[in-house]
Amino acid sequence: MKIKRIGILTGGGDCPGLNAVIRAVAKTVINVFGMEVFGVQDGFSGLVYDQIIPLRYDDVSNILTQGGTILGTSNQDNFFAIARNGSRDSGSGRNRIKEAVRNFKKHRLDCLICVGGDGTLTIGNYLNGQGIPVIGVPKTIDNDVMHTDQTFGFDSAAWIATLAVDRLHSTAASHKRIMILEVMGRSAGWIALHAGLGGGGDIILIPEIPYELNKIYKVFEERHKRGRRFSIIVAAEGAHRKGEVPIYMKKAHGLSGISARLAGTIEKATGIECRSVVLGYLQRGGTPTPFDRVLATRYGHHAAQLAAQGEFGRMVCLRGNEIESISLEAVAGVPRRVPLDSPIIETARDVGTSFGD
Ligand code: F6P
Repeated sequence: MKIKRIGILTGGGDCPGLNAVIRAVAKTVINVFGMEVFGVQDGFSGLVYDQIIPLRYDDVSNILTQGGTILGTSNQDNFFAIARNGSRDSGSGRNRIKEAVRNFKKHRLDCLICVGGDGTLTIGNYLNGQGIPVIGVPKTIDNDVMHTDQTFGFDSAAWIATLAVDRLHSTAASHKRIMILEVMGRSAGWIALHAGLGGGGDIILIPEIPYELNKIYKVFEERHKRGRRFSIIVAAEGAHRKGEVPIYMKKAHGLSGISARLAGTIEKATGIECRSVVLGYLQRGGTPTPFDRVLATRYGHHAAQLAAQGEFGRMVCLRGNEIESISLEAVAGVPRRVPLDSPIIETARDVGTSFGD
């Protein structure tokens, strides 16, 4: 089958680097393979409601450094009644696969490049089995997509979070306070781990390591003995106490809030002033870091090559410094969390960081 018309959609939460992928796919497909590119707007909504537009070479100029996605996205819908891992979305509701296939064929598309996180890629894998050939590109600030060393968007979020940790040090020291920075990541602690290590946080709380309050209080005591009368805690939004049900198992969205509660508990128990900051959507907005610009461009370039070669049902991935691909089936449905034997955890512990355990 001669591949001629490539569709691309961006799904799930936005992040820096999405436009770099769109640009790389479109320019490679047009420049190298002489094919046509079509943008599906607002994630899978555009596929179901036929919001599909041609992307010309000039449409993707000057967007490399632009945050967000020129196509729009959404992470609130579940058009194909697919249960999604780690969320309350049980996959109820009507399956709109017929409309999706009809619109895909109406525009005579030959394949669909789905740029997204574990939710989008799970749906992409389903569509790939329903007559819509799919190629996946791993996107998310959470860095929780299986079988790739890193998703694009993560470096930009970790950088913003690390800058925030840097800035919290001066105010914590001036007021002799405990400052808690809450970062995103859903059920994974990658952002907290990297920002905590990179910013020199004293305590890092991640979902993978349930914490105990008395262990946290012990850290303050030890630091006070050494004359360090302030502390910095970097907490992932999914972090939780031992024995507690994590927030991401109760809600699909709007997970933030653990840091305010923890600040109140700490201040009440220790008498030390404690303040919290939720970094929130600052981790999702703005221009991508140089690393993410290059990774996103490499991902988009390889996705275009796979499309031209008719290699569908694959996801591009980073292995070391090489861009490779892996079957979508292997990636679908399982978020990649921080392994307990991660060398980064060992390094953090060995330089004196506590994980509250
Ligand atoms: O998956 C990316 C992410 O930013 C998570 O880290 C966060 O929990 C979630 O999206 C927020 O979702 P929403 O944009 O629907 O509030």
